[in-house]
Amino acid sequence: MASQEIQITEKPEWVSWDDIHEVLWQAHSKNREEGVVMRYPSLPGEEIRKRVEGKGKMFVAILSEKLIGTSAVIFKDKSLWCGKGKYAYCCFDSVLPQLQGTGVYRKLCQKREEFVKNEGVSRMLLDTNESNNREKIVVVKAGFKPVDLVWWTDHYNVVFVKWLNGCPLSDFRCKLGFSVRKIMVKTKRFIKTLFKG
Ligand SMILES: CC(C)(COP(=O)(O)OP(=O)(O)OC[C@H]1O[C@@H](n2cnc3c(N)ncnc32)[C@H](O)[C@@H]1OP(=O)(O)O)[C@@H](O)C(=O)NCCC(=O)NCCS
Repeated sequence: MASQEIQITEKPEWVSWDDIHEVLWQAHSKNREEGVVMRYPSLPGEEIRKRVEGKGKMFVAILSEKLIGTSAVIFKDKSLWCGKGKYAYCCFDSVLPQLQGTGVYRKLCQKREEFVKNEGVSRMLLDTNESNNREKIVVVKAGFKPVDLVWWTDHYNVVFVKWLNGCPLSDFRCKLGFSVRKIMVKTKRFIKTLFKG
């Protein structure tokens, strides 16, 4: 595949929200096989549109007039132990299975990051299932650091942050903060399960 043929652009009109759902669904086939459950791949196109339109941007990767990858950003405002204020929430990240590992996501990330910087936001956040090992490795390579854990009805999600102007915390502080949050969240969950049982 000649990488220069790949176009990364804001979602054009001819790409429908259902097309986005389809690529997302296909991209997650291996995750489903491995029992790595995630909510977003099963959202219908209309639900994806509602979550993104007017709140951020959907970027797509196109190869030979075919949609091959997706990546969105939504602006939010929330405090975490490691920072507060406006941040860019990255979601709906997907690349068709046959093209995974060929650098498509890297290009999508670059485009998304440029956009976020131009909007004057310097903190990016994403989360993924704790068992989604491929995504966890990729996002760390892309400069994200794991900082938190959240419980989602039947699985934990790891929360990652990337500071576009450099991380204000030492590596030790980040690792310590993440470890403390993991212990807190898992202990809380364990206690809840005990009382339910
Ligand atoms: C996770 C996923 C989007 C990654 O897409 P991909 O196209 O396979 O990733 P790429 O080929 O662009 O990444 C390739 C390389 O560039 C690195 N990379 C990716 N983005 C980068 C960035 N912005 N900066 C630096 N390195 C980056 C990757 O770590 C990887 O390094 P390697 O060559 O040493 O292995 C894809 O595997 C996928 O669709 N998975 C299923 C769906 C899913 O789990 N989505 C995430 C839901 S939260």
